[in-house]
Amino acid sequence: MQDHKEWVKKVFDRASASYGEKGCCFFEYFGTRLVELAKLARDDQILDVATGKGAVLFPAAQVVGPQGKALGIDISSQMIEDAQAKAPYPWIELQQMDAEHLLLPDHSFDVVFCAFALFFFPSAPQALSEFKRVLKPGGRLAVSTFSQRAVLDRWIVEKMGELGMTSGVNTISIDAEKPFMELLVPAGFSSIEFHRESKVFYHENAEQWWSSLSGLMDCDRGSSSFLLKI
Ligand SMILES: C[S@@+](CC[C@H](N)C(=O)[O-])C[C@H]1O[C@@H](n2cnc3c(N)ncnc32)[C@H](O)[C@@H]1O
Repeated sequence: MQDHKEWVKKVFDRASASYGEKGCCFFEYFGTRLVELAKLARDDQILDVATGKGAVLFPAAQVVGPQGKALGIDISSQMIEDAQAKAPYPWIELQQMDAEHLLLPDHSFDVVFCAFALFFFPSAPQALSEFKRVLKPGGRLAVSTFSQRAVLDRWIVEKMGELGMTSGVNTISIDAEKPFMELLVPAGFSSIEFHRESKVFYHENAEQWWSSLSGLMDCDRGSSSFLLKI
């Protein structure tokens, strides 16, 4: 595995215990919204790439039901293990796999999801060509991403810079329609729709907010790496 991927895996292996557990329900909320927007049918075959702890996979599995297929893959073995432990339906499948190298047959899914992860992949075009390959003709891709950083997060990143802390994750910026189109069109996707949605989530207190961030800090490199947070 490349360095970058090993590092991302390590960060999420470590973050898994607290990921989506402390504080607000951001990922669950937007995972459910993405599933709603994808308008799944009962019995659909769906793949959730970079599934994390199932924020998209679980509501999608509920819609497709036991006659459908609901497979989640993630590079982090710990995320996969923890998602498996929480999986609410027995027909949910989870496998450790790299988004850029899907060990899955061509044309096997009606819908591929990828929530808040495309920017982690060293080659988004490679991942998208894999998504296209495993989609059935006429199949759909549903992707979500963060918009620009909120004021507080911009301040944190600025302060980290002043302290000599840099982000160790080479995330690419896909926070507007143009960069998305530049990736999706060459990958063969068409009839592209954009939905913008914002929602305010409240933490109970500052400690809880900080805990939700600190799970994604890199403590092994001698510097903290601010991954992403809105
Ligand atoms: C911010 S989390 C999003 C998880 C989930 N989709 C959600 O909405 O809660 C990003 C996820 O991407 C996964 N990831 C990063 N690089 C990956 C890769 N190359 N292949 C598969 N998963 C990857 C991480 O392990 C992590 O679980």
